[in-house]
Amino acid sequence: MASRPLCLALSLYSCQVIANPQDVSDSGISLGGQYSLSWINHTLSIEEDTTTVWSTIHGQPFVSASAGNDSFTGSNGAFNITQVDTDRCTGQNITSVEQVPWDGTLTGSAVQAKGYLLSCGISHAEYELTFWVPANLTDRVAFYLNIVPQSGPELKKLYLSFASSPDEDIYGLGAQASFASLKSQSIPVFSREQGVGRGDQPITAILNQNGSFAGGDKFTTYTAIASYITTKGNMFSLSGKDAGYANFDFTVSDLITVRYDSLSMDGFFARAGDMFGAVERLTAGTGRMPKLPSWVDNGAILGIQGGQSKVETIVQHGLNLSCPIAGVWLQDWVGTHGQAGPYVNVSRLWWNWENDEKLYPNWPAFVQGLRDQYNVRTLSYVNTFLANVSTKTDGFRRNLYAEADGAGYFVQNTTSDSTAIISSGPGLVAGIIDLTNPGLRSWFTEVMKTQVWSANISGFMSDFGEYTPVTSDTKLYSMVSDAFYAHNEYPLLWAHYQKETIDNLGLQDEALVFHRSAATGSNKYMNLFWVGDQNLNWGVNDGIKSVVTIMLHMGLSGYAHQHSDIGGYTDTLTYDNYNITRSPELLGRWGELAAVSSSVFRSHEGNIPSVNAQFYSNDTTYEYYAYNARMFVSLAPYRRYILETECATKGWPLLRSPVMYHVNDPRTRNISYQSFYLGPGLYVAPVLDPGVEELSVYLPGSAGTTFKHVWTEEVYYGGRDVVVATPLGQPAVFLVNGTEQVELESFLDFVKRENETKLSIE
Ligand SMILES: *[C@@H]1O[C@H](CO)[C@@H](O)[C@H](O)[C@H]1NC(C)=O
Ligand SMILES: *[C@@H]1O[C@H](CO)[C@@H](O)[C@H](O)[C@H]1NC(C)=O
Ligand SMILES: *[C@@H]1O[C@H](CO)[C@@H](O)[C@H](O)[C@H]1NC(C)=O
Ligand SMILES: *[C@@H]1O[C@H](CO)[C@@H](O)[C@H](O)[C@H]1NC(C)=O
Ligand SMILES: *[C@@H]1O[C@H](CO)[C@@H](O)[C@H](O)[C@H]1NC(C)=O
Ligand SMILES: *[C@@H]1O[C@H](CO)[C@@H](O)[C@H](O)[C@H]1NC(C)=O
Ligand SMILES: *[C@@H]1O[C@H](CO)[C@@H](O)[C@H](O)[C@H]1NC(C)=O
Ligand SMILES: *[C@@H]1O[C@H](CO)[C@@H](O)[C@H](O)[C@H]1NC(C)=O
Ligand SMILES: *[C@@H]1O[C@H](CO)[C@@H](O)[C@H](O)[C@H]1NC(C)=O
Ligand SMILES: *[C@@H]1O[C@H](CO)[C@@H](O)[C@H](O)[C@H]1NC(C)=O
Ligand SMILES: *[C@@H]1O[C@H](CO)[C@@H](O)[C@H](O)[C@H]1NC(C)=O
Ligand SMILES: *[C@@H]1O[C@H](CO)[C@@H](O)[C@H](O)[C@H]1NC(C)=O
Repeated sequence: MASRPLCLALSLYSCQVIANPQDVSDSGISLGGQYSLSWINHTLSIEEDTTTVWSTIHGQPFVSASAGNDSFTGSNGAFNITQVDTDRCTGQNITSVEQVPWDGTLTGSAVQAKGYLLSCGISHAEYELTFWVPANLTDRVAFYLNIVPQSGPELKKLYLSFASSPDEDIYGLGAQASFASLKSQSIPVFSREQGVGRGDQPITAILNQNGSFAGGDKFTTYTAIASYITTKGNMFSLSGKDAGYANFDFTVSDLITVRYDSLSMDGFFARAGDMFGAVERLTAGTGRMPKLPSWVDNGAILGIQGGQSKVETIVQHGLNLSCPIAGVWLQDWVGTHGQAGPYVNVSRLWWNWENDEKLYPNWPAFVQGLRDQYNVRTLSYVNTFLANVSTKTDGFRRNLYAEADGAGYFVQNTTSDSTAIISSGPGLVAGIIDLTNPGLRSWFTEVMKTQVWSANISGFMSDFGEYTPVTSDTKLYSMVSDAFYAHNEYPLLWAHYQKETIDNLGLQDEALVFHRSAATGSNKYMNLFWVGDQNLNWGVNDGIKSVVTIMLHMGLSGYAHQHSDIGGYTDTLTYDNYNITRSPELLGRWGELAAVSSSVFRSHEGNIPSVNAQFYSNDTTYEYYAYNARMFVSLAPYRRYILETECATKGWPLLRSPVMYHVNDPRTRNISYQSFYLGPGLYVAPVLDPGVEELSVYLPGSAGTTFKHVWTEEVYYGGRDVVVATPLGQPAVFLVNGTEQVELESFLDFVKRENETKLSIE
């Protein structure tokens, strides 16, 4: 086939003549292994044997660039980004497609397409798009795109476009809370406060009303990951080095466009047989989560605040009520201070990593005592900030903020030539530790060892990671580009830093350190993901339902072990005649959800504990909680089996969207929170609405798949909707295809034994 000039008549691109080099021979150029690349008929395509794994669209430009700095408003984590594209190149030509020497490849070479981006305003640029099969991961193709501006406008961002099948649904991209398939959405990859509401009303409108972005939208998330997998078994990921702001545009039905905030970008892709194979290949490249310590299987981790005697009484009370307790999580170990809010003061933590002598006067001995007396472990709390404690009325031993401020260990403000101040609400002045500064790292490691890990704790909530400012007066110690580019890398550095400390202390089998922020590649540095702060309600975008949706997408982003704050976190009291507080029913149903979906069972009091139902409010709430904790424990052998056989070795998530098993059942593609598989053997439809005594459940697939409802032992067939009773304590759980897995015995014993247990929310 002879190549010929082609006039592109597409709305995005003005009509350009693309001149082509001679077509590569029909068989293509070998990339190594089973992979080859061809440039035929104005299409660049990559085949694995005879299957096309990646291609451009016939005649359409597939690389572009633009000038202009993206703009943003907001600070303190609540960023609202507006993409700015000026002088976007409207044409492209190809001047050569040829083999070039390349390091780290299977064959010692790569195949490189070169050419020019045309009409970028008054200028043009050269580009090289290089593909190879990595020597150490031969089941995929890696790529590197590099653009070299020639003159004219300051090009800043690149675009890579390639074909997608219109019937291909897309999942992943991190903690996405508002959609099932991401096809037809345009997803920004930026780590920030997810917002309170995220589109659930009226709360989002109330919080966004004065131009702040505190309510967020359907795209705001603590964790966005630059990778996806599809129902065709395709997987695509940027490399962990590329943590800059990215945007994945799936709004054009047959095209995917990745926009990236740099003139070079690298990543990899492959096509596996199904979605399971795609996750396996994805995580072979991005990494898999380290082992979850076995003690988490023993019971609940009680989130409590209020000091030693309160904690111990609640533990004793729980043991009296047959609540299995694995640990306590005491975020207020550092002490608290009140912050003015509507109606009541909100209690905030002092971000200064030492025990508060009023609440926890004998911290190390107290921690050891809980362990020795009750076999209850203690988790504490650490974050990326240090707050100035000079106004802490009940005293402090070290002011870590003052030490770090003096040493220049914080992210810096070049306007004020001092620490960049973060204010998390009135009265809280803090800096962000600069993890790119080797001085900070060694100083902070000493702090972590002598002040945090020195008590016999078993881990902590490793909070935040999303706050690094993006303005041009932000300075990090080692910053390759600008602050906007550096922003997303922080969560990766934060998780990596914690993992190094754990490894250094030899605590790999004991430590449980959970994060809500992550970047591409963070999964290898954390053994537990926590889905962040949700509203204490039944909301789709930011309430209990969003927890399932997030776990679905995070699972397909390579995060196999996840959990949520049981009961939710965010109370809101407003003067707009609207409050969000936690009901006993929400707490109970959230505990059920955790028991049948999560690898760790941990509760949170919420940010205004006094207005919420607590598990320890009274015997009624505690009995429901204890029941849920027993259900969680009864599933431990089954969970552990999956963690060890599928999560650790293949990167498959514990919680699985039904679409993974039923890719040809169109209804499963739209399931976000309504149901899921827990491993291969259990199908679950949790109760995520109030007052629900029975639930209509869609059973996917065909009549060949059976679903046995565990509570009634009724057997149903796939491909239909059924209605099952869902009294308190009985989320709809089904055994799939008559599984008789021995690891499920303790759960089935629980079901028989506790079938008649009466729970209440009165
Ligand atoms: C591609 O565009 C560049 C820049 O305009 C031009 O110099 C070159 O001749 C073109 N090559 C082909 C093959 O069209
Ligand atoms: C080139 O590709 C176009 C679009 O897919 C197709 O319509 C055309 O038949 C192809 N031409 C040849 C010679 O294969
Ligand atoms: C594969 O090799 C590259 C260097 O070529 C390295 O950066 C990467 O970490 C290796 N990946 C794995 C999974 O070993
Ligand atoms: C927005 O401003 C109005 C008027 O000043 C005030 O009453 C309201 O509380 C503000 N809302 C928020 C969420 O700050
Ligand atoms: C976020 O920015 C966009 C674009 O500038 C703007 O339309 C929108 O109103 C902003 N959102 C809020 C809540 O301020
Ligand atoms: C737990 O039970 C013991 C024995 O019945 C009792 O002495 C103790 O007061 C109970 N503790 C709590 C906190 O309920
Ligand atoms: C630096 O300080 C100035 C005022 O002193 C402020 O306007 C600006 O937002 C600060 N920038 C950063 C990155 O903290
Ligand atoms: C874009 O940002 C860079 C780095 O902050 C700055 O040097 C440049 O002047 C900005 N360009 C425009 C057009 O604002
Ligand atoms: C919101 O909560 C406050 C404090 O508990 C209470 O005084 C107020 O009446 C509540 N408002 C609504 C609408 O329930
Ligand atoms: C237990 O506490 C919950 C939450 O505060 C409350 O709604 C419920 O009425 C209480 N039940 C009893 C029996 O005291
Ligand atoms: C259940 O078994 C049927 C018949 O063997 C099989 O087609 C189906 O894929 C199985 N379903 C699941 C979810 O494993
Ligand atoms: C649970 O109790 C119900 C009602 O008594 C009964 O129909 C059902 O068979 C029992 N389920 C199991 C698993 O024992």
